[in-house]
Amino acid sequence: MMFASGIWVLAALFVCAASTKEAGNSYEMKVWRTNDRSLQEPLALVYTEIENLYHQQSLMKENMKKAMMHCTQTQAYKENGANVTSLQAGSGPVLYPFAQDEDSEAEARFDPCYHYTVLDQAWRATNFSTKNVACDKRVNWRGWYRLFYRGRSIQMPELCIKKERCGTHAPLWLAGGHPSLCDGIVTRRVCGHWNNNCCAFKSPPIKVKACKGNYYVYQFVQPKACHLAYCADVNTLVCGWCRKNEICSSRDKINWFCKKTKSRAKAKVHFFASYPGRLSGKVNRIQYKKVYVNVGRAFNRRTGVFTAPVAGVYQFFFSTQSGTNGAKTDLWLVVNGYWVAVSHTRISSSNSVGNLSTYMTTLRKGALVYITHNCGNSWANAASNTITFGGSLLLERR
Ligand SMILES: *[C@@H]1O[C@H](CO)[C@@H](O)[C@H](O)[C@H]1NC(C)=O
Ligand SMILES: *[C@@H]1O[C@H](CO)[C@@H](O)[C@H](O)[C@H]1NC(C)=O
Ligand SMILES: *[C@@H]1O[C@H](CO)[C@@H](O)[C@H](O)[C@H]1NC(C)=O
Repeated sequence: MMFASGIWVLAALFVCAASTKEAGNSYEMKVWRTNDRSLQEPLALVYTEIENLYHQQSLMKENMKKAMMHCTQTQAYKENGANVTSLQAGSGPVLYPFAQDEDSEAEARFDPCYHYTVLDQAWRATNFSTKNVACDKRVNWRGWYRLFYRGRSIQMPELCIKKERCGTHAPLWLAGGHPSLCDGIVTRRVCGHWNNNCCAFKSPPIKVKACKGNYYVYQFVQPKACHLAYCADVNTLVCGWCRKNEICSSRDKINWFCKKTKSRAKAKVHFFASYPGRLSGKVNRIQYKKVYVNVGRAFNRRTGVFTAPVAGVYQFFFSTQSGTNGAKTDLWLVVNGYWVAVSHTRISSSNSVGNLSTYMTTLRKGALVYITHNCGNSWANAASNTITFGGSLLLERR
């Protein structure tokens, strides 16, 4: 797609340059003859440029894929294909997330978020004490676990738990807090409270991962001593009710609540600018001096360059009004150095004609967009707004 338009763009470029000499030419693509020596050099340039385009495109694709894998991949989960076993049978209803995206199924195959053992043992709760203390050293831990409390998703505590809770003597809590979705698998210290020392037992660190759907999986390992046991914090039961666009949060690590994720706040980007005068011939970058709208301040009035402040889908428009001498006039939209769309005018009589072009594309953060006046004459005065450039962010991508 981009490959093909690249050829067109560059071929059109040469036609534009050629026809300024021969005013009678129609706006058509020329057929290259390889035995035409004068064309060999520019042709080589064209091919190099096309290769660059192609390279840049595959890079962009790769980056997008990477970003999706880390943070924005939709949940993939098939109940039938799940490798979920339960330590405690008949422990009540357990809800699993369901598949939304077939493609990510393969990626999910080795993801602990979908391959864990359900650990639903009410005695692990932070509000539970008993004389029959448990010892996790005696458990043959294997792989990943997800904590439940009577069928409801629950998390490990992130702060010191009183002695003789969690059905054991020295309750094990997660030091350093839980990771976020983008962190992937992290290693966290585990502490056991005893003798007024919150970390009297420095238990071997465990791996933890945050999963879509507001739950965590833990790769539990054997503590070094008895009696220690991994805790389930009853205060985090509320986290199981958080919605898709929410995360579970707590300032004091005691009271937990669901809150909307920050990224919901959409970036607003809109600009509209105009050049209040005449342009003729080659003007590398039109410096649209009159800026009417610049929400998000992504358009630079001094340079005429728009810099994408966030990754997302953008729409641009730009216009011209041809001069009256009948010459061909071409304005090009330039995205990251590539000429992607033209606003072309041509009329044989001594009339003037306008042209407005639009373009929509996905940009990464920091992408540069401007307009180049490649040839011909464009007309505007201080009030006509005939040479304009504007755009909007339609959809933000994370
Ligand atoms: C579940 O996982 C275990 C250990 O990773 C593996 O041995 C077993 O074959 C898996 N079962 C299914 C049904 O995939
Ligand atoms: C512990 O907390 C849970 C959830 O709030 C509650 O249902 C349960 O009755 C409590 N157990 C004890 C022993 O207080
Ligand atoms: C406007 O631009 C388009 C695309 O380059 C071109 O096909 C069309 O002829 C132009 N209109 C005028 C009036 O020049």
